[in-house]
Amino acid sequence: MNFFVDTANLAQIKEAADLGVLDGVTTNPSLMAKEGIKGEEAVRQHYLNICKLVDGPVSAEVIATDFEGMIKEGEALAALHPNIVVKIPMIEDGLKALRYFSDKGIKTNCTLIFSAGQAILAAKAGATYVSPFIGRIDDINWSGVELIEQIVHIYQNFAFRTQVLAASIRNPLHIVQCAELGADVVTCPLSAMKGMLKHPLTDIGLQKFLADHAKNNG
Ligand code: E4P
Repeated sequence: MNFFVDTANLAQIKEAADLGVLDGVTTNPSLMAKEGIKGEEAVRQHYLNICKLVDGPVSAEVIATDFEGMIKEGEALAALHPNIVVKIPMIEDGLKALRYFSDKGIKTNCTLIFSAGQAILAAKAGATYVSPFIGRIDDINWSGVELIEQIVHIYQNFAFRTQVLAASIRNPLHIVQCAELGADVVTCPLSAMKGMLKHPLTDIGLQKFLADHAKNNG
C-alpha cells in the first residue's frame, strides 16, 4: 500500500517525507490556491519544488476542461519532471485525454470519481490511478468506503491495471478501512497520517517504562 500526502504545502510534504513512510504527493487547484501559488511559472516551480522533496509520483492537475487544452497543459506538466502524474477530471474530454496520455506512456490520475461506472471508464481509458473521493461521499450521507470496496472488486474481476487511489480521506479510520479493502494508494492530509501513530496505551506504556527505568537508575 502506498501513502501519498494530499497537500501543496512544502513544509507538510517535507514533514511527511521525514516520517519515512511517504510514497508520493497529490495536489489539486484548491490546494494550490490555499498556498497562494498563482501564475504559470509559479505553478511550474512549485511542482518542481515538490518533486525535490519526494522521490515518487506527484499529481499535478490540469485546469483546462476541453481535450486540446488538457493535452497541451498535461504535456507541459509531464515534461517538468519524470515523477509528474497528470491529473485529469472525469469528464467526457477527460476520458479522451486519459486514452491519449495512456497511449503516449504518460501517467495519469483520473480525479473526481464518485461512482463505480466512472472508475470502469477511467480504467478502460488506461488511467494509471483513479481517485474516488471518499470523504465527500460520506459528506452526502453515502459510504465512500463502500465505493472503494466496489471498485477494488471490479478491478480484480478483470485484472485492470489502474490503481485505486483513495482520496478525500478525512481521518485515520478511513486509511485503515481502505487498507483492509485493498486500495493500492491512500492520499491523505498529514494530520490523518500522523493520527495513525496515536494510541493511549502506547503513551501510558511508555510513561511506565521510563518511570521504571528512572526508579531503577536513581
Ligand atoms: C486528491 O487527489 C483530491 O483532490 C483530494 O483528496 C480531495 O480532498 P477533499 O475532499 O478533502 O478536498
